Amino acid sequence: MSKFQRIYWAKDFDWDSYSKLYDKYAKSKGSYYLQTSSKLIDSVKLAKSSKVLDLACGTGALSMVLLKQFPGVNILAVDLSKEMLKYYKKNLSKQVKNGQIVVKDGNAEGIDKLSEEKYDVIFVSSALWDLEIESFVKSAKGVLKNGGKIVFNLPSLVVEKERGFIYFIEHFFRQTLQSDIIYRRIPIDYLKKIFEKNGFKLSTMKDYSFNMSKKNVTDFFDVLRYRYPFILFPKEMPYPQKLKRCTEIFNDSLRYVPKEGLDEEGVIFVFEKN
Ligand SMILES: C[S@@+](CC[C@H](N)C(=O)[O-])C[C@H]1O[C@@H](n2cnc3c(N)ncnc32)[C@H](O)[C@@H]1O
Repeated sequence: MSKFQRIYWAKDFDWDSYSKLYDKYAKSKGSYYLQTSSKLIDSVKLAKSSKVLDLACGTGALSMVLLKQFPGVNILAVDLSKEMLKYYKKNLSKQVKNGQIVVKDGNAEGIDKLSEEKYDVIFVSSALWDLEIESFVKSAKGVLKNGGKIVFNLPSLVVEKERGFIYFIEHFFRQTLQSDIIYRRIPIDYLKKIFEKNGFKLSTMKDYSFNMSKKNVTDFFDVLRYRYPFILFPKEMPYPQKLKRCTEIFNDSLRYVPKEGLDEEGVIFVFEKN
C-alpha cells in the first residue's frame, strides 16, 4: 500500500487561500463535494430525527445537502481546521445558533474523545483518505449506537481502479513529471479487514459516478492546486515552487479535458457496527 502524506497537518499548508476558495467551490452547483454528498446520503436510511456525525465536515457540503432532505436531523460537525469551520458556521448559521448543529474542532481519529453521545450514522465525505484508518475505526466505534453505520466514499483510483476524475489528474501529472509519485491507494480487502477486526460488517459497497462539466473541472483545479503539491511532489521541494509547478500542470491539463467534461467514479462503503 502506498504511503500518504498528512497534508492538512503540514506547517506550510496554506489554509487561508485554500479554505476560502474551497468554500466558494464546494457550494457551487454540481461541485464534486455536493454531488459526492448526495451519493453518500442516498446510500443509507435515515429517520426524521436521526443523530448524525459529519466527520471531516469541511465547510459544510454534506450537512447542507442532508438538511435539505432531512430538516429534523441533529448534527455534530467535526473538522481539524478552524479555518474550514469558520465557513461551515457561516453556511449553517441558523442551525448552529439554534443548537441543531454542534460544531467542534478536532481530530476524527479521536472522535470518541470529543463526544459522549452515540450516533446513528457517521458520514465521512471525501476525506477517508486523509485519515489513519485503524485509529479512526476504533474511535468511531465508541460513538456509534449498536447497528449504527459509517458511510464514506473512495474514488476508483484509491481502490486501485485506474479510471475517473482523480485518475485523470494522477495520469497527467505522472506523464508530465515522468514520475511514479502517486495518490494514496487503499485496497478494498485491507479496508474490510480493518473494519471486521474492529467489530464492523460490510453492509453496502456500490459504485457511483457523476459528471463534472468543464467549468466545474476548471474551478476545482483552482482549489486542488493548493493541496496537490503535498500529494504529487517530493517533500523536500519548497512549497512555493511546488505550488507554481502544480498550477502550471493543472492549467496545461485543461487542454485535454473534453468539452463534455469528465466523469468521476468511485465506491460508496457502508459499514455497520455489530
Ligand atoms: C476534501 S475536504 C472534505 C470536506 C467535506 N467533507 C466536504 O465534502 O466538503 C477534507 C477535510 O478533511 C479534514 N480533515 C483531514 N484530516 C482530518 C482529521 N484527521 N480529523 C478531522 N478532519 C480532518 C480537512 O480539514 C478538510 O476539511
